[in-house]
Amino acid sequence: LPGTGYRRDMPDQPETTMPPLFTWDFAADPYPAYAWLREHAPVHRTTLPSGVEAWLVTRYADARQALADGRLSKNPLHHSGQAHRTGRVGIPGERQADLMTHLLNIDPPDHTRLRRLVSKAFTPRRVAEFEPRVQQLTDRLIDSFAARGSADLIHEFAFPLPIYAICDLLGVPSEDQDDFRDWAGMMIRHGGGPRGGVARAVKRMRGYLLELIHRKRADLGDDLISGLIRASDHGEHLTENEAAAMAFILLFAGFETTVNLIGNGMYALLRNPGQRTLLQESLGRGEQGLLATGVEELLRYDGPVELATWRFATAPVRIGAADIPVGDPVLVVLAAADRDPDRFAEENTLDLARQDNPHLGFGHGIHYCIGAPLARLEGQRALATLLTRLPDLQLAAEPEELRWRGGLIMRGLRELPVSFTP
Ligand code: HEM
Repeated sequence: LPGTGYRRDMPDQPETTMPPLFTWDFAADPYPAYAWLREHAPVHRTTLPSGVEAWLVTRYADARQALADGRLSKNPLHHSGQAHRTGRVGIPGERQADLMTHLLNIDPPDHTRLRRLVSKAFTPRRVAEFEPRVQQLTDRLIDSFAARGSADLIHEFAFPLPIYAICDLLGVPSEDQDDFRDWAGMMIRHGGGPRGGVARAVKRMRGYLLELIHRKRADLGDDLISGLIRASDHGEHLTENEAAAMAFILLFAGFETTVNLIGNGMYALLRNPGQRTLLQESLGRGEQGLLATGVEELLRYDGPVELATWRFATAPVRIGAADIPVGDPVLVVLAAADRDPDRFAEENTLDLARQDNPHLGFGHGIHYCIGAPLARLEGQRALATLLTRLPDLQLAAEPEELRWRGGLIMRGLRELPVSFTP
């Protein structure tokens, strides 16, 4: 895949040797390779396409333990290699700006303080009150292609929905939201590739956010940015830079993930017609239960985040049978852990009604996804509305023709062509 460092596929290998990682076939379906790793090399040191060496953790129990281990730092300065200085770790172009100091790059006590402040503004109640607006955005996007009988669900639906939703929630005026759409498009297209454009997009976004925060401070409203400015804890507030970094990480962490939840989720439903019919029938009866467990199952079965973000050992850490030396990067493979047969019965089966489902799709421990309520809301409204308004929606390409993005952390489709009766 151009720009990703992925290799073309290797010839078939016997089952006893490790299947190749980071090839085209792997990007399309990494699950067989992860099953092999879980079985034969559950904590495995490998060289990533970028050339950086890192440990992959693939078993559920090990993954949960690693995600909660305070000796694994999120601060890239703990990496013994040069990767963070050469820009191969973290968000390209971000380092020159204070946006770097966001939740996913810091440890306690700073993390505790910032997370507590943002939690006061980004509450489940704020998200629940946002539901009518998410429904309106969802319907408006479907209106834009419903008469045509065909669409690319990634570009025309999954991509714009979360960006408009988070802009609305933050309080970005509607006339500026298309700028955000362009910047976000730049980041998703070039996330693992050319750096110049991304650096420029991040810089513009930072300038815009700082100015917006400045304006809001003079005229507080009931949007999330005003909430971030207002939030205080024991007399402490977010500085303008901290508020900008927080708005940025909310956008950045909440964007491509949600695109992939809608894209991977719809794709899984289209490939599993029996499950899709059950869901459509249950929605037809006005029930929400299967939709709720179904979105959790889609997060487990083919979740948006393939690998959790970087962690670095600040002390020697034993995970499973492996001794991780100080300074080594650890990548927890959520996609592998969530199909561990030691934790999930029928691990490769999509079962929307699955009850016992403590998946790691939103992470675990102190960095557990703060946007989970919003992600669930958007995922549920998006999938339910598509299935209800376009009941005969079907895939308009062979599965082998679909292209997957080759980035390291995320797992998602580049396009999802569908057709339906207008
Ligand atoms: C953290 C997944 C949507 C904001 C995380 C983590 C995961 C995750 C796995 C932990 C990463 C780690 O520990 O390395 C997802 C998925 C989503 C989603 C699968 C969609 C389906 C969102 C949304 C927002 C958001 C909509 C905000 C609007 C964040 C933030 C963090 C985070 C700020 C960092 C929390 C911290 O470090 O304390 N997310 N996320 N996410 N997520 Fe999400």
